[in-house]
Amino acid sequence: MPSNPGATPGRAPLHLNAFLMSTGHHEASWRLAESPARANSDIEHYKNLARIAERGRLDSVFLADSPVLMGDPGRRPSAKLEPTVLLTALAGATEHIGLIATASTSYNEPYNLARRFASLDHVSGGRAGWNIVTTAGADAARNFGLDDTPLHHDRYRRAAEFVEVSTKLWDSWADDAVVADKERGVHALADRVRRIDHSGEYFRVDGPLNVQRPPQGYPLLVQAGSSEDGKDFAARYAEAVFTAQQTLEEGIAFYQDVKRRAQAAGRDPEGIRILPGIVPVIGDTEAQAQELDAELDRLIVPDYAKRQLADRLRIAPEDLALDEELPDGIPTEDEIEGAKSRYTLVVELARRERLTVRQLIGRLGGGRGHRTFAGTAVQVADTIEHWYDRGAADGFNIMPAVLPSGLETFVDQVVPILQERGLFRTEYTGRTLREHYGLPRPANQLFDLAAPLAG
Ligand SMILES: Cc1cc2nc3c(=O)[nH]c(=O)nc-3n(C[C@H](O)[C@H](O)[C@H](O)COP(=O)(O)O)c2cc1C
Repeated sequence: MPSNPGATPGRAPLHLNAFLMSTGHHEASWRLAESPARANSDIEHYKNLARIAERGRLDSVFLADSPVLMGDPGRRPSAKLEPTVLLTALAGATEHIGLIATASTSYNEPYNLARRFASLDHVSGGRAGWNIVTTAGADAARNFGLDDTPLHHDRYRRAAEFVEVSTKLWDSWADDAVVADKERGVHALADRVRRIDHSGEYFRVDGPLNVQRPPQGYPLLVQAGSSEDGKDFAARYAEAVFTAQQTLEEGIAFYQDVKRRAQAAGRDPEGIRILPGIVPVIGDTEAQAQELDAELDRLIVPDYAKRQLADRLRIAPEDLALDEELPDGIPTEDEIEGAKSRYTLVVELARRERLTVRQLIGRLGGGRGHRTFAGTAVQVADTIEHWYDRGAADGFNIMPAVLPSGLETFVDQVVPILQERGLFRTEYTGRTLREHYGLPRPANQLFDLAAPLAG
């Protein structure tokens, strides 16, 4: 089934995800008059956002997460609801749109998490996706009995085994296991439900799962790490990749790198959708968009951001002067055990453009390293089309600076342009998240069934 009716035949369809975060991706968005004071725990705010995204026929909405209260609670809304719980509520408020939740492989156990995602997939009728993260940061580690974050490489080893165990658990029920034969008194066929008897480096899990196989077989597997280990992990397991890329050249290089690694891992490179992030700030004129961007930057309280930047760079805040460039002697990526690729992106951005600390804080305040683009709806559509045509993207992770207004403007003004250009669907044709992304339902590795297509 085509995942994008309305898209020009012969041209691969574009995919769009809405990254929903609080009052918006700009750190000062919560200070605007329009922003709800308690957006993060306001289910009506999130229902409204999901419905707007669905009105635009977007493939999915996405929630980030980390099992820790991040940063200074004074700076921005930082307390938030658990994503699979929130998405379960959004499943009831929407019909079509995919629902992607972040969950950590470092601070969960596969049995519980595989069950949670299987449940979300059943509740939503096959619309669940899992953004698989390894969680950087010692502050999260200290919520789970550890003194510091496990080593980067070890986190990715555990993530790989975690995903292997999870897929086996989802496969522990054959698709035809439940017969509910009331006459014979047989509910499920015992030989179609199987233990997995997994015993590995990190996990021992007998199985089977106590939830039937999800409608999609597995939830859509999403990943967002960009270090060497992160890209190898994506190449092996991910079906969609979120990424932060500042320039077109870096975007193309990343795209080709991940697809090459997927091929080397024995996968079809077409089976991975790559979605760089973009923070669109849209105005009726370019000047108006830039003014909105500047207005948001003026609302940033630089002290919070300076402390966070110093923390990321592993130096004291006093060593950063707001109106000077980054000092020499900050660590290299090799010396960082946290989010390696984002660290490098931030340092390279500052060095390449010779930004002062104040300017760097402004640039990061909008999208934490994602590309901010201020312009008219046509200009936003143009840059999307340009990156797409040049082979830097299969789609985009839309990260509005302000929510809901930024998402509304994108859906009402940019999406119709993309539709007119034959780049984006005008109606949903698929039922599941996999169908929106044009990706197959995985076969069952334990029961060697030819997997029936959902829908
Ligand atoms: C769009 C996007 C969303 C992300 N969301 C999360 C998240 O919700 N939780 C998290 O711990 N990390 C998140 N990350 C961070 C990545 O998982 C990863 O740790 C980071 O990009 C550094 O890559 P590396 O771990 O391969 O060095 C996100 C990254 C991107 C690009």
